Amino acid sequence: MPSYAVIGASRGIGLEYVRQLAAKPDTIVFAVVRNASKSTHLQAVVKDAKNIHVVEADVADYPSLQRAAERVAEVTGGKLDYLIHSAARMEPGVHRGFDDYSSMDELDADFITSYKINALGVIHSISAFLPLLRAAPTKKIVVISTGEADPKFVRKSGTAHMTAYGMTKAAALIATTKYAVKLQDEGFVVVAVSPGLVDNSDTVGENGDPAGHALFEQLSDYYSKKLGVRVEVQTPEQSVSAQVKLIEGLKPSDNGLFLKHTGGEFVS
Ligand SMILES: NC(=O)c1ccc[n+]([C@@H]2O[C@H](COP(=O)([O-])OP(=O)(O)OC[C@H]3O[C@@H](n4cnc5c(N)ncnc54)[C@H](OP(=O)(O)O)[C@@H]3O)[C@@H](O)[C@H]2O)c1
Repeated sequence: MPSYAVIGASRGIGLEYVRQLAAKPDTIVFAVVRNASKSTHLQAVVKDAKNIHVVEADVADYPSLQRAAERVAEVTGGKLDYLIHSAARMEPGVHRGFDDYSSMDELDADFITSYKINALGVIHSISAFLPLLRAAPTKKIVVISTGEADPKFVRKSGTAHMTAYGMTKAAALIATTKYAVKLQDEGFVVVAVSPGLVDNSDTVGENGDPAGHALFEQLSDYYSKKLGVRVEVQTPEQSVSAQVKLIEGLKPSDNGLFLKHTGGEFVS
């Protein structure tokens, strides 16, 4: 029975991973969220499933992840096949550029918060779950990344904003690569995956954000024009079903790669 822990599973891409993985036969899925009682979109998914365990942890709080790993170990007998890290700081301020702060102190504080969640958070989750991953035969770690972490993509797309997000996701990408190198001889496959442009508006807040759909269409037009290829907006269902297929097909030679959700290396 393959086991999956999805970190950042309350909404968006992480939630969709939980939904799709739990729908597969004979799986056990651990949905790791900051606040279970506030994760209303997840509750709706859990209600119809018997193989989803909700576990609380904040990726900026390492002891909470260690406790989460202990809870998972109790259920699985100390093993975990797949770790999927989706959590990231995506609140409205994610679009801020260098000049969108009232002072350098404000900028520093915001960047440090993002660093703790987006960069150190990846190290915290991998480190907390590593003993369980080592004990299982599968040994797969997937970290959800973004084109905004790639200097070439940033140059081509002309996105001078999303500064704290881009810088800290770039740090997470390097952390993922370092883990891939460190764990290679143990048979791990550790990859970063770009999910594409995914409209997560339906699970924003309690009731979704209908206005968000238009924003994603604008982003699609913007990126398509800048990159010279059509960048379609995807639903979480579309992006994650491609990602699940990708993850199922991961092979040792993929270790350390930054992949597109549809397969192949991310190149901008
Ligand atoms: N959507 C896109 O187009 C897109 C494109 C490229 C990359 N990505 C990447 O895809 C991933 C998921 O993004 P999304 O679009 O699904 O965003 P989202 O809907 O805003 O979901 C973000 C998730 O991260 C969780 N999270 C935030 N801070 C956390 C913390 N400190 N500890 C634990 N969980 C935390 C949130 O939980 P709470 O409910 O507790 O806040 C939520 O479940 C991110 O890594 C993002 O960088 C997304």
